[in-house]
Amino acid sequence: MAFNLSRRNLLAGAAGGAVATVAGCTTKSAAIAEEAGAFPAEAAAVDNPYLLGAPKGVALLSRNENPYGPAQSARDMIAYAASKGAYYTAQGATEKLLKMIADRHGVSPDHVALSTGSGEILSALALHYGPKGPIVAPRLFWDTTALYAKNLGMAEIQRVPLSAEMEIDLPAMEAAVTSETGAIQLCNPNNPTGLVTPGNVIRPAVRRMAAKAPVIVDEAYIELADDEAGTTCVPLVKEGLDVIVTRTFSKIYGMAGIRMGYLIAKPEIAQKVQSVVMSWTPSTSIAAAIGCYNDMDFINMSKGKIVECRDMVTATLDTLGMEYLPSQTNFVYFKSGKEANALQKAMADKMISVRGQYMDYNEWTRVSMGFVEDVEKFCKTLPDAVASI
Ligand SMILES: Cc1ncc(COP(=O)(O)O)c(C=O)c1O
Repeated sequence: MAFNLSRRNLLAGAAGGAVATVAGCTTKSAAIAEEAGAFPAEAAAVDNPYLLGAPKGVALLSRNENPYGPAQSARDMIAYAASKGAYYTAQGATEKLLKMIADRHGVSPDHVALSTGSGEILSALALHYGPKGPIVAPRLFWDTTALYAKNLGMAEIQRVPLSAEMEIDLPAMEAAVTSETGAIQLCNPNNPTGLVTPGNVIRPAVRRMAAKAPVIVDEAYIELADDEAGTTCVPLVKEGLDVIVTRTFSKIYGMAGIRMGYLIAKPEIAQKVQSVVMSWTPSTSIAAAIGCYNDMDFINMSKGKIVECRDMVTATLDTLGMEYLPSQTNFVYFKSGKEANALQKAMADKMISVRGQYMDYNEWTRVSMGFVEDVEKFCKTLPDAVASI
């Protein structure tokens, strides 16, 4: 049975009213990015329509979600928030979340801005800095929000080739930054490669670049890095530099559908961005985030499952002799030796959803971690799927 899990289909398939209500710039920008080819549609025809979650029987391993979420601590707060859903979000709830985030990072709350998923804040940043000059970025990164601004005619992306090891080439990026640069955008760990740039490498480079133009560091997967504290660029914000770190509740917290994200930056940037984000973050999202932000049991459980799955995937790839990049995220980018879109289709025929081709990386496939049993299914199916192409 074929199925199609592209975000565009989610948009088209959901009830129209719901789309109009929930479609902040993030959802629209994802759809626009798909149009532009950043996220090719995932399989053939839709014959398994669904509203929420994974279609029955499908191993959903294409979207870097954490199906073990949301944490019970978040669900309890969502239920409570739903009972108060008649009211606009209370300022006290927003302030509480701002303070929790600020305390964790050792900054004052005016360094934090909240948004409906980090995609919204990244889109706002692209709209803000794009008109000033090109956004310098690695050739392969999570480009959805920069493309959103580009599609509105408000930004150009200046892509800098990756190194031979497919790492972000920081010296080349530094060389690309000029007085005309609007902003620099990095993703650490990077998506779709899964590679981390260590703190002792990224921080000096970001420090130098920030002297020339604002640097956005998208840390959507940082909680999964082996050394989160040593990798994050938040210390550069504390130094007062033009560095903007974005984080999300969509990944380790398993709240992709709930929509909550934030940035940490110096107060003038945080206030500016907070004033231009397009949506009013739902009270359910803020409540959920308050509920689970410090839920270390859930975070450790999730990380354990993700690492277990990642080990299974890399063991399978080792057995098959396939090249892969050492991931510090909840996905693995591997070289199957077959056309990525053909492998995506072969897996879809077996009810497994993996990502299709990125740019001209035609033999590379990204598989996300998910339920352990779904990843087991992927590992068992991969040899036959590859052989069938
Ligand atoms: C690197 C990266 N940043 C940001 C996002 C946006 O996530 P969200 O808007 O759900 O926070 C994603 C989503 O896949 C991502 O991969």
